[in-house]
Amino acid sequence: MSLRIPQLRYEPSDELAALCKAGGDPLRLNVLRALANDSFGVLELAQIFAIGQSGVSHHLKVLAQAGLVASRREGNAIFYRRALPSADRLGGALHAALLAEVDELQLPEPVRERIAAVHRQRAAASSDFFARIADSFQARQDLIAGLPHYRDSVLALLDALAFPATATALEVGPGDGGFLPDLARRFSRVTALENSPAMLELARMHCEAQALGNVDLLLVDALGEHPADADCVVLNMVLHHLAAPADALRRLAGRVRAGGSLLVTELCRHDQSWAREACGDLWLGFEQEDLARWAGAAGLTPGESLYIGLRNGFQIQVRHFAKPDAKQTQV
Ligand SMILES: C[S@@+](CC[C@H](N)C(=O)[O-])C[C@H]1O[C@@H](n2cnc3c(N)ncnc32)[C@H](O)[C@@H]1O
Repeated sequence: MSLRIPQLRYEPSDELAALCKAGGDPLRLNVLRALANDSFGVLELAQIFAIGQSGVSHHLKVLAQAGLVASRREGNAIFYRRALPSADRLGGALHAALLAEVDELQLPEPVRERIAAVHRQRAAASSDFFARIADSFQARQDLIAGLPHYRDSVLALLDALAFPATATALEVGPGDGGFLPDLARRFSRVTALENSPAMLELARMHCEAQALGNVDLLLVDALGEHPADADCVVLNMVLHHLAAPADALRRLAGRVRAGGSLLVTELCRHDQSWAREACGDLWLGFEQEDLARWAGAAGLTPGESLYIGLRNGFQIQVRHFAKPDAKQTQV
């Protein structure tokens, strides 16, 4: 007697049904809204939406089965982000339309406050790290990539942009100030924004030793309220320490003057989770497409990029994003 095993039949309509089911719940729509420019772990989402962890996990599973969210491991935690709609896939147009409508939603005030609280917790973890490790900063940087690995590439991009002699620069998170002499030689005035007093002191000593007369060092949160702007904003290995990188790019793009540039040096996406403890990294690098998408959403246009492979397996991306000049903006 032969045993007949019923074949499970794949129905394309199942995929559409999963998409409709996932979108058919107000909480899940708000989760998608919260993930518009951010990624959160299960515990963070439980805190943000004030529901239990198992409830969040259930909703994320439904969203993941419908292809609306994707996950990635960051150290011990799994972070969820939106999945991008694909035009080739059945339901792709519905997915894109759903996200467009979701983006019109305004999250309730308490939810927005709790998102801000999660960002503050992440930022505090990052600044505690730099307060503790200033003495061993260089050694820790060298575990992954130190300034010598990317300095020449950043300078090559910078020099190709041929800024006028009057142009100004802003360096976000200068660390021990190793890149400030390079900027000071190329720009009429350089402002460095650093939120760690211990790191700022290292930068101050470096500027003093190099007798840099055109550098202003400010102890501020680069993402907070301050008047600084410049023709060129430089961000070397800082973004992976920031609580909400997409939002940070948007804010920093606002510091770039019309016709100016944002230069971002970052790790490409990796899975070396030890970097979180050893180097205080909040994010394990970034996908190249994510940086381009976030910069685009911030009104910047991608320019040249350089990629540097390192012998330890890490890869660095040096990216240029341009801000349209005033005339281009008016068109
Ligand atoms: C990994 S270090 C990079 C230092 C330097 N740019 C380099 O390439 O060697 C990151 C620096 O960003 C600073 N930082 C992190 N978050 C910041 C913020 N919100 N505002 C200003 N500085 C910040 C840290 O204190 C630290 O000095």
